[in-house]
Amino acid sequence: MIIVLLGPPGAGKGTQGDRLVERLKIPKVATGDVLRAAVRDGTGQGRLAKRYMDRGELVPDRVILGIMKDALSRPEAARGAILDGVVRTVPQAEGLERVLEELGRKVDAVLLFDVDEDELVRRLGQRTVCEGCQTPYTGREPGTACAKCGGTLVRRKDDEPEAIRTRMRAYREQTAPVIDWYRHNGTSVHTIEAAGPVDTVTARVLRALGL
Ligand code: AP5
Repeated sequence: MIIVLLGPPGAGKGTQGDRLVERLKIPKVATGDVLRAAVRDGTGQGRLAKRYMDRGELVPDRVILGIMKDALSRPEAARGAILDGVVRTVPQAEGLERVLEELGRKVDAVLLFDVDEDELVRRLGQRTVCEGCQTPYTGREPGTACAKCGGTLVRRKDDEPEAIRTRMRAYREQTAPVIDWYRHNGTSVHTIEAAGPVDTVTARVLRALGL
């Protein structure tokens, strides 16, 4: 099963994506996580991506298409994958279609996480993430230990107010058109009310997927 997670910054794509990994036993591909690991490792791709990510801008499509192709061709993804934030522009949606076609697959469902902007800003203002496994936390101080892997919790550079504004704008201008692109293509787009407790949102996700 190939599931695309769409939604603005802080909508809970990562949080719910991890829940789906546990439930469906298929891997999650999160381009944000892949790029942050490349930045941390100081690779050429990481140095390029950092220039965009720190400001809250989208990384060029060609970089994302390479990550997509690589991740989906791996044996771990043979049974499917949860694509978290992988598709943020129409050219990326088209590119994913081509990659999947080559593999004889298609997108089975798109989940669109819907939350109002005040709540998103509040969530991102309180978020820390594990430097190692990238698990997000709310209300835990930077410098404390990750409950999952023991790594150190840090604030993301792009969770500063100016970068959050840029990310929201990128979502409205570049990612929102992807929703209509999928609808016109006949792919099921399920809008998930993503405010409320995490477990409640998970229940909505599972219902939408018929699980
Ligand atoms: P990425 O890391 O994907 O960031 P994002 O899309 O802005 O999404 P976030 O990770 O901020 O939020 P989320 O929706 O996953 O929410 P989360 O579960 O963490 O991308 C970063 C950057 O990489 C981009 O800006 C871009 O530069 C680049 N990039 C990545 N992919 C790209 C692509 N395809 N094309 C071009 N560039 C790309 O939750 C947020 C917080 O809320 C957490 O603290 C969490 O604990 C909390 N929370 C979750 N659910 C709830 C709930 N129900 N109630 C209360 N709190 C909750």
